[in-house]
Amino acid sequence: MTATPEAVATDTAVLLEAVTKVFGTDDAAVHALRGVDLEIRAGQFAVVLGPSGSGKTTLCNIIGGIEAATSGSVTVGGEQIGERKPADLGDFRRNHVGFVFQFFNLIPTLTARENIEVIIELTGRGDKARVTALLDAVGLADRADNFPSQLSGGEQQRVALARALATDPAILLADEPTGALDLDTGRQILGLLQDLRRQGRTVVLITHNASVAQIADRVITVVDGRIESTEDNDSPADASDVTW
Ligand SMILES: Nc1ncnc2c1ncn2[C@@H]1O[C@H](COP(=O)(O)OP(=O)(O)O)[C@@H](O)[C@H]1O
Ligand SMILES: [Mg+2]
Repeated sequence: MTATPEAVATDTAVLLEAVTKVFGTDDAAVHALRGVDLEIRAGQFAVVLGPSGSGKTTLCNIIGGIEAATSGSVTVGGEQIGERKPADLGDFRRNHVGFVFQFFNLIPTLTARENIEVIIELTGRGDKARVTALLDAVGLADRADNFPSQLSGGEQQRVALARALATDPAILLADEPTGALDLDTGRQILGLLQDLRRQGRTVVLITHNASVAQIADRVITVVDGRIESTEDNDSPADASDVTW
């Protein structure tokens, strides 16, 4: 367990300093992040907004310990993860982050309940006695025994959200979670993310949609691997007002 560095305020959930990420080498090198500084405070709902290919997913994966930065400092939940290899970050991921992806990534051969239980078993975090409550919180208590193929896209994403919360992560990372959903269903997911923020959870939402970005407290705009702007929003829009 790494101690919280002196320089990092305890209410800082995510702090990136001069982070770069290069994929490949020489002529094939892709500079996905070109020196990113950003801070997300605990309890904030932050959106990372930017066009396709701007580096959003790379940024999200570095914050979540799925990918290592090429250089720079990365502190998440008080732990310096920086250039540590993803293979060495299993404990970090289990203890700090929950992920939601565009295409849900549920295990097709497991029911909704089992998809959540397996994460509790694998991580040793969370409580199987709470699975029904987790499904209830996303409005799916009555679908616990359905397989993903028996659920709509929006329902699958709600299961994925319940799964991400099963380990009680300090930070929820959601990479284009509404990208595969229609407007009404997507709004429900965004509404659930706003509920989490009201409950004090730190939420980082990745999107290419400027309308979606309006529901956040902090909008971090990424263009071509750099932060173009960071804006705080005192009166975030309600998820029901989002459009695409
Ligand atoms: N594993 C990888 N290998 C090579 N290039 C990659 C890899 N992942 C992402 N990239 C490149 O990095 C850039 C940023 O990608 P990404 O972070 O996925 O952007 P976004 O999520 O904003 O669409 C793109 O040019 C993309 O092609
Ligand atoms: Mg992406």
